[in-house]
Formats: sequence, C-alpha cells, structure tokens
Amino acid sequence: MYSPSYVSSEIGGVEDRIFKVISKSLNIMSKLHIRGLTHSFNLQNTKLNVLEDLNFKVNEAEFIALLGPSGCGKSTLFNIIAGLIPPESGAMFLNGEYVDSHTDAFGYMQQKDLLLPWRTVLKNVLIGPEIRKDTEEYVRSKALSLLSQLGLQGFENSYPNQLSGGMRQRVALVRTLLCNKEFLLLDEPFGALDAMTRTVMQTILLEMWGKKKQTVLLITHDVEEALCLADRIIVLTPRPASIKSKIDINLERPRCTTDISYINLKKEIIDILTLDTNQVFSMN
Ligand SMILES: Nc1ncnc2c1ncn2[C@@H]1O[C@H](COP(=O)(O)OP(=O)(O)OP(=O)(O)O)[C@@H](O)[C@H]1O
Ligand SMILES: [Mg+2]
Repeated sequence: MYSPSYVSSEIGGVEDRIFKVISKSLNIMSKLHIRGLTHSFNLQNTKLNVLEDLNFKVNEAEFIALLGPSGCGKSTLFNIIAGLIPPESGAMFLNGEYVDSHTDAFGYMQQKDLLLPWRTVLKNVLIGPEIRKDTEEYVRSKALSLLSQLGLQGFENSYPNQLSGGMRQRVALVRTLLCNKEFLLLDEPFGALDAMTRTVMQTILLEMWGKKKQTVLLITHDVEEALCLADRIIVLTPRPASIKSKIDINLERPRCTTDISYINLKKEIIDILTLDTNQVFSMN
C-alpha cells in the first residue's frame, strides 16, 4: 500500500488499514479526514510552531467555515491540504485514501489572488480547463456566464492591473470554480469586498453549492459570513493552531439573522474569538 513520506510511522501501516476497512464497511467514511497534523516553520533559526495536532473530519458535501485569529495558521493548513507544502507530521485521508503532496483533488482559491498579469481576465479564469486540455466552446461560455454572474461583464478582456482588489478576488473565485473540483478550499474569498457585494457573492456561492453539492472548506474572519454559509464552524486557537471548538449550525437556510438561535450562536462565537484575540495582543 502506498504511504507518502510525511505519514508518520506511528499512525501509518496496520492501524490505518484497519481504520479504512472499518470506515468503508460501516459506510462512515468521511470525505476528508485530517489526523494529527502538526507543522512548524524555521524562522531566522527559530522554530515557529504553527499547527499542533489538528484533528477533524469533513463529510461529503459539507460546508465548513474555519475561524481563527490572524496568524494562527489557517492559510498554512490550506497549503498543506492542497499539497503545496508537506506537513511536519500527521496524515490526511481523502475518501479513505492517503493523500500525498501531489493531489489535484482540490480547487484552491488562495488568500492572494495570484492572477497572471500578462493574461486577460478571461484567459486567467480559463487556466484550469486549459491545463486539463478542455478547450470546448461550452467551457468558454460557462466562464463568460460566471464572470457575468459575479458582476464582471465587460471586463473579460481587461488585465488584472486594470481591476480593483474586489474584482480581482471575484476573478480568482471564477477561476477556482472553473477548475471543476468536488472539493473547494476558499481562503477569505470575499475579504476584499464591500458588505453589499459580499452578501451577493455569498448568496451566489450558496446557490452553486446547493446545485453541485461540492464539499467546501472556507476561511473567514467574518462571524456572520460563517453563520450564513456553513453547516459547521470550526474555531481554531491562536498559533499554534489547534481545534478550539466545533459548532454545528442547525439552522435552516437562508439563515434568519434575527432568529434567537442565530443571535445566541453569534454571541457564543464572538466571545470565543474575543478571548483569543485578547490573548494574541496580550490585552485584558
Ligand atoms: N513560508 C513561511 N515561512 C515562515 N513562516 C511562515 C510561512 N508561512 C507562514 N508563516 C508563519 O506562520 C504563521 C501562520 O501563518 P498563516 O498565513 O497560516 O496564518 P493565517 O491564520 O492564515 O493568518 P491570516 O488570518 O492573517 O491570513 C504566521 O506566524 C506566519 O508568519
Ligand atoms: Mg491567511
């Protein structure tokens, strides 16, 4: 059985084979299972611990929002899940299979938009289909339709430096959606948008998710965004990030922001985050 180099010997081997057989036979296999993920960076010869023994599962077609203080390790976690950096230790299973660092299972919208400056908007969003040699006309029409839906009609032939920050972010979202992956990693996809545009984008994303039932992990700093979108919210501690709490959002969609359960959940989450932010900035 293939075992990537970063799967620690402690959790590799027999235990994982048993785990896989049991979860398959009981039909309880999660879409993504993160086990004991730990990571640190070397910063000017000092070890900077960023992720500490992260454990969580994501179910098929589940929408999870990740919240945590700035600098706690959220983007690092996504970079590891997407296979851009190998973790120091721990393992990841996608559909019950080990995931190595070369997986292409995820559509990843990074925090920086990473648009190619020499390509037009249309050519930027068509990178995914181009890489998989999918040059059919319907993909181009789909791209144009998504750009239009996200308010970018008329800018198809513009270059990234001719766009605002929020527009670039929407182009990056279209590019991620066109990658046609069943699992999306969205790192603060609406961070550069004004409140009204953000609400519109959230609605569009929810509609798309409702139709395609992709599995989504979304990083946000906006508690309301997490509450409006997610089935479950995972709150991370300050760096090194570990799981602080997992909160099920058992509220019907569209979420009613005046509902007492919504208000109570919002208060609960803000209290958790305020405590941690105070800790990061050493406040009382
Ligand atoms: N390549 C790297 N080399 C060294 N340190 C890094 C590297 N990437 C990230 N870090 C450090 O790891 C920590 C976590 O960074 P990360 O970008 O994952 O945080 P974040 O939770 O996404 O923050 P934000 O909410 O501000 O985007 C930070 O202290 C950062 O300085
Ligand atoms: Mg980040």
